[in-house]
Amino acid sequence: MTILVTGGAGFIGANFVLDWVDVHEETVINLDKLTYAGNLDTLSSLQGNTRHVFVRGDIADSQLVKQLLTEHQPRAVINFAAESHVDRSIHGPEDFIQTNIVGTFRLLEEVRAYWKDLSPEAKQGFRFLHVSTDEVYGSLAPDAAAFTETHRYEPNSPYSASKAASDHLVRSYHHTYGLPVLTTNCSNNYGPYHFPEKLIPLMIVNALAGKALPVYGDGQQIRDWLYVKDHCSAIRRVLEAGQVGEVYNVGGWNEKPNIEIVQRVCALLDELSPRADGTSYNEQISFVTDRPGHDRRYAIDARRLERELGWKPAETFETGIRKTVQWYLANQPWVENVQSGNYRDWVEKNYSGRAV
Ligand code: NAD
Ligand code: DAU
Repeated sequence: MTILVTGGAGFIGANFVLDWVDVHEETVINLDKLTYAGNLDTLSSLQGNTRHVFVRGDIADSQLVKQLLTEHQPRAVINFAAESHVDRSIHGPEDFIQTNIVGTFRLLEEVRAYWKDLSPEAKQGFRFLHVSTDEVYGSLAPDAAAFTETHRYEPNSPYSASKAASDHLVRSYHHTYGLPVLTTNCSNNYGPYHFPEKLIPLMIVNALAGKALPVYGDGQQIRDWLYVKDHCSAIRRVLEAGQVGEVYNVGGWNEKPNIEIVQRVCALLDELSPRADGTSYNEQISFVTDRPGHDRRYAIDARRLERELGWKPAETFETGIRKTVQWYLANQPWVENVQSGNYRDWVEKNYSGRAV
């Protein structure tokens, strides 16, 4: 048996592929365009492993997707491929429309054509799992209840709007064509192999480099943090037992304001890799201009996944963040490798004029 994973050289996709190869006997076909966010270094431990087949390509390339489906006959497709960074979507939304909307559409079309011609048994067992985000639900008031699966869609950034559009397409392919789809909407992930443009890895990397730690606005925006391996286990569980056509919210019940996250990272670094002058990394915190349209609060109600499929996260925020900081300290060559010219250009563009 085989599964096809898209975006499996990115942060969550690669963690998923690494875990999958550990846990399952099945072969993984990994289709990834290798944008700035995709990194084969992350998958280097799979070199020579015949159960991992890497293919560089675009989910919007219908010919390539058709060929992969025909050749490998996967029993499931798990779609991680996306443009994923909110700030980049503000500077340049077009790639987000192209990959997240057009790409998902083309992928769905090819998967539908493939699935239609499967044997009745294979057709019934087939799954298309779409990996999505809590950002499609918009921003919560401080005292509002956490997002359930029936919360209305209210995306506020080009990124979340493009993910919302992809979720709607996936839903429609089930309702209209009967394609056996599943959708997961997850909160903020953190953990190993996280690209250092996102909050937690950026803070670790900047702190160690002696640079400013740029906190947007007042730093009181709230995110709900989940260790990436817990997201991967949730996806495996939904793939295994989720009800076709349904949506499952994934989260860790770990709501925290950004400033607390940054201070926690500083405290761990103070303990594990103290600054030479003996003062705290907190000294490097710098409040900068806010993100335009910045969502104030996300919180996921993950009770459906627990009640119906028995899934719970294994890590608390405390255990997960310690593992994450330790991982970055132990894997500095990985960080250096991903800090390409493109990365440096991005940092220059996003933070210039933000008074770091
Ligand atoms: P990422 O940006 O780290 O990785 C995305 C991967 O997709 C990269 O390897 C990239 O090369 C690849 N890719 C981009 N465009 C492609 C295309 N057209 N064809 C094939 N591959 C392409 O993203 P991530 O953080 O790993 O997120 C993975 C998925 O999970 C995304 O769909 C994202 O919306 C969703 N998600 C992320 C989070 C989070 O906190 N990071 C939370 C919830 C949901
Ligand atoms: O909620 C799930 C989403 O989480 C995913 O769908 C996205 O793909 C993922 O990128 C993430 O989006 P966020 O915008 O929440 O993540 P980011 O790490 O960019 O920012 C987290 C918070 O930290 C957010 O409130 C903005 C703030 N921030 C971010 C950066 C990069 C800062 O204060 N300073 C920074 O330099």
